[in-house]
Amino acid sequence: MSSNLWIRQIHRWLSIAFTLAVIANIVAMTLQVPATWIGFLALVPLIPLLVTGLYLFALPYLGRRRNA
Ligand code: HEM
Repeated sequence: MSSNLWIRQIHRWLSIAFTLAVIANIVAMTLQVPATWIGFLALVPLIPLLVTGLYLFALPYLGRRRNA
């Protein structure tokens, strides 16, 4: 149960990192800075966000199956 809470906290904080990376991207675009690596910077938190997010999505169904 506590590991689920950990996954949720990780997902929460990764969402902040992802948001900051998106803002950095928008700033770079408006300043017309040709920095491709800033684009890839957003993928670093997004990929674990996807994994932890899919895990959080599956949790209710896994719980239902175990309770049945
Ligand atoms: C990449 C694919 C993503 C998937 C599959 C995903 C999936 C999920 C799921 C299933 C939940 C739990 C909902 C519930 O309580 O039942 C959740 C919570 C949440 N997600 Fe995502 N998510 C993704 C990306 C993101 C992104 C990009 C952000 C924001 C930048 C984000 C922010 C949050 C936040 C803040 C919560 C609430 C966490 C909490 O309980 O405190 N997620 N997500």
